[in-house]
Amino acid sequence: MNQADCPYTLSRAAAGEAPAFYALMRSVYEGMPDKDLFAVGEIAPEWMQKALTPPCFGIGARTASGELAGMLVVVTPEGWEHSLARKAGLSPDQLPLTMEMDMSCVAPQHRGHGLQQRMLAFAEGLLPREARFLLCTVSPHNPASLASVRALGYRVAATREMYGGFLRHILIKDRSL
Ligand SMILES: CC(C)(COP(=O)(O)OP(=O)(O)OC[C@H]1O[C@@H](n2cnc3c(N)ncnc32)[C@H](O)[C@@H]1OP(=O)(O)O)[C@@H](O)C(=O)NCCC(=O)NCCS
Repeated sequence: MNQADCPYTLSRAAAGEAPAFYALMRSVYEGMPDKDLFAVGEIAPEWMQKALTPPCFGIGARTASGELAGMLVVVTPEGWEHSLARKAGLSPDQLPLTMEMDMSCVAPQHRGHGLQQRMLAFAEGLLPREARFLLCTVSPHNPASLASVRALGYRVAATREMYGGFLRHILIKDRSL
């Protein structure tokens, strides 16, 4: 589907949209038969507020009527110890060059339009060149999400248990290549 045919409008989101983002994230999670694929668990509304506050931001995909159909957040790592940079094999001095793509989800009735990939590409277009390394985690058992990130050039850097025991690929994209 080319951009002109896409019935969704993508935009950058800030903290004012945190309640809507949080509600979509929770409802996608509640509707998933395999909850291991989307590590939402006990995430609190305050987390989403912070994830939409600069330098972090979100991307929302809305229908013509304004319904939030999909979302993701782009966050800076909170520190080296818990960073995806460390898990992906980068060095501590590369940490400031990284951003993490997180919580991407699309409401079930809006899937099949490549929205996750579109949102990721849209987010990338908003990032400065200094954000050289983009990182995310995807379950090896999540083919739709893996297809989205691989299509954009992310590659698996490591695979390990995370989020309390769920297997995750840690994927990285080096925008300087
Ligand atoms: C993952 C998710 C965001 C993808 O939604 P989407 O953008 O609408 O995805 P699409 O249905 O358009 O599929 C994306 C790609 O995966 C492929 N795909 C989808 N389901 C697949 C499957 N079961 N097996 C193999 N490929 C599959 C599609 O063919 C498409 O590939 P293409 O672009 O080459 O045609 C959505 O399924 C979701 O919200 N899942 C629950 C939450 C979640 O898992 N989030 C990701 C956490 S890492």
